[in-house]
Amino acid sequence: MTPFETRVTRRALLAGAAALGVVRCAPAASRSGRLSETQLAPGGVGFTAKERDLLLPGRSGASKAWLYGPQPFPVIRMKKGAHFSAHLTNALAEHTSIHWHGVRVPNDMDGVPYLTQKPVQTGEHFSYAFTPPDSGTFFFHPHCDTVQQLGRGLAGVLVVEDGYAVDDDIVCVLKDWRVDEKGGFLPFLTEQGAGKAGTFGTLRTLNGQARPDIEVPAGADIRVRLINVDSTRIIDFGLPGVEAFIAAIDGNAVEPFLLESWRLGPAMRIDLVLRTPEKGALVLTDYFAPEPVTLGRLVVAGVPKRSGKFVVRPLPAPVYAEPDLSNARRHQLHLSASAVATPYAIEPIKLANGDTIEVQDALCTASRIFWALDGKTWPSRDHSAVPPPLLDLKRGETLELEFLNTTPHPHPMHLHGHAFKVLSASRMKRPIHWADTVLVMPDERVRVAFVADNPGNWMIHCHIIEHQETGMMAWFRVS
Ligand code: C2O
Ligand code: CU
Repeated sequence: MTPFETRVTRRALLAGAAALGVVRCAPAASRSGRLSETQLAPGGVGFTAKERDLLLPGRSGASKAWLYGPQPFPVIRMKKGAHFSAHLTNALAEHTSIHWHGVRVPNDMDGVPYLTQKPVQTGEHFSYAFTPPDSGTFFFHPHCDTVQQLGRGLAGVLVVEDGYAVDDDIVCVLKDWRVDEKGGFLPFLTEQGAGKAGTFGTLRTLNGQARPDIEVPAGADIRVRLINVDSTRIIDFGLPGVEAFIAAIDGNAVEPFLLESWRLGPAMRIDLVLRTPEKGALVLTDYFAPEPVTLGRLVVAGVPKRSGKFVVRPLPAPVYAEPDLSNARRHQLHLSASAVATPYAIEPIKLANGDTIEVQDALCTASRIFWALDGKTWPSRDHSAVPPPLLDLKRGETLELEFLNTTPHPHPMHLHGHAFKVLSASRMKRPIHWADTVLVMPDERVRVAFVADNPGNWMIHCHIIEHQETGMMAWFRVS
């Protein structure tokens, strides 16, 4: 189908929907294939988490999406050093919160119900306010019932700009939707999926569209921020036919290196820099499947902007405290199935400030448990308390963490409140780099290290959301 036909079909569908008395149904993204972007205003941004009718590509009816605004994946751009604020209104029928994935926020802004804040109940508001200490490509999402809330579309992008000059800067959000032909959502968590690689969506999209054409300037230096917000899918991203360089991983600058293909698990991001061709199109491709899958295209337009050779410049380097490996605390974190695990002994948790953590509710974990960290599983729905911390770290201490995966599935492991340095991996080659999420392949050991310099209670979990919600999560305390 050409883009023109896609458009006509969508309009016809909208007209059909209107005739049936379906009111105001937003198509999933603008015609250009780009997400709508907002420059952060001094007063901040407002989000209303709400159920909205969304027409997803190729579906005969609207989906009951849960979104922060009229469109999926709002993109907020701001300058590094500026103050960020977001006012969340919860118009859903269940509680929610916003976690700023990858941003080193103060602990009370981290958006984890029961661990860092009270859940934002139906009809309530919560204001998030912080000054992001780092530039980068970040995203945000809820942190309880995430299978459903993220599954129905609650996610957005936060770009903290670093002043790197390019001719164009494009955000590409990858997400699958679990919908049937009519647009109805299918179960987000299944026992077959949760106990294995996760439950996959039925519709793959880039910026909410199926294989969109994104217009980019010809012969121009551009930056592409690729974000995998899917709950389940791991991709091997490639851009054949052009020399593209990976300039940042999870928003953290690396010495630019040539993209061959790069494996992105859920929540992982890369920033690419490249010179677009003078004619034609570049195909955003996933090589993880048996046959390469087209995710979308960058279609060049206009007269070439630049001549001469493309010179890759690095992005501004991150400014994290360097882990002191000679004096580090070491911990091996064992990722396993829950068959060999024991549940935590639950006691009331005392916080550093003397408060006690409130009981949890049934939205934050599933009723079945399949996974464990260090032979312990986060308690299932019939337990209503938060388990004790996995580790108690002293502020300023270096932790060298070795993820050891003895399961047959990859796990993208994510740490809150800190960036870690990925030092080595036993199976999948990658350069030393800073990240907030790292993919640990089956039978792999991955060593990371960081300075625990952000006080508070921080989650550590697998970002395959069904794994997270069926046991593969824990938390650590920095005090
Ligand atoms: Cu992106 Cu704890 O999550
Ligand atoms: Cu996992």
